[in-house]
Amino acid sequence: MRAIISSVLPAGRVALVAAIACGTLCAGAADQSPVPVTDASFGCISKLTPVRGFFVGNLSGHLPDTLKVARSKEGGVYPVGSVVQLVPTEVMVKQPAGFNSITHDWEFFELDVNAQGSTIRKRGFAEVVNRFGGNCFGCHIAAQPQWDLICETTHGCAPIPLTTPMIRALQHTDPRCSGSDHVNAEDRKALQQLAELQKVGPPASDAAH
Ligand code: HEC
Repeated sequence: MRAIISSVLPAGRVALVAAIACGTLCAGAADQSPVPVTDASFGCISKLTPVRGFFVGNLSGHLPDTLKVARSKEGGVYPVGSVVQLVPTEVMVKQPAGFNSITHDWEFFELDVNAQGSTIRKRGFAEVVNRFGGNCFGCHIAAQPQWDLICETTHGCAPIPLTTPMIRALQHTDPRCSGSDHVNAEDRKALQQLAELQKVGPPASDAAH
């Protein structure tokens, strides 16, 4: 229907006409209202879809579009509703286009997690600082533009002090996942090293996750 309307009306009118024509039946089709995010939006990290070292999901039902960007060798802009996680307690969620031009519409979350579920501890845009004093946006904005603030290890962000085995161990021991209390020897070692690292206490501004 959009195609037919757009052929007869100037572009600016299309959204309005489509909205009236759709009414409540199409609610959600015009990705303009904020994506509602609550404690219940989050769960066991490994139930999301793995992409290289991180996990993605989509709260608005657009998982295939999220995966397309996440798997692209050229990068791209993540679609509304995208959820991205590396460790259980930190999440990025894509809000609708135009929602926050500074963060490219990413909302940053820090969670508390336990076997009962997740509690949002902090959420917001450029101001969110993680429990180690690191500003999410401050690091993630350094990613080269085609990666839409996704850092990985090669996109230009300052590195985080976690090794790959530590990240894997945190993912495997997400307390929201069933069976997470069975910790294998490799993960146990990585978690011990992580505990040591936190004891020594890296400068707060360098600590990421
Ligand atoms: C010191 C810089 C730094 C800070 C602070 C930081 N991050 Fe990251 N983040 C990174 C880097 C670098 C990676 C990639 C690490 C890797 O893949 O080994 C990453 C990975 C991620 C990923 C997986 C996707 C990606 O970009 O690779 C998410 C999601 C994420 N961080 C969210 C957050 C949130 C939410 C906060 C704040 C609560 C935060 N980060 C704070 C640097 C940072």
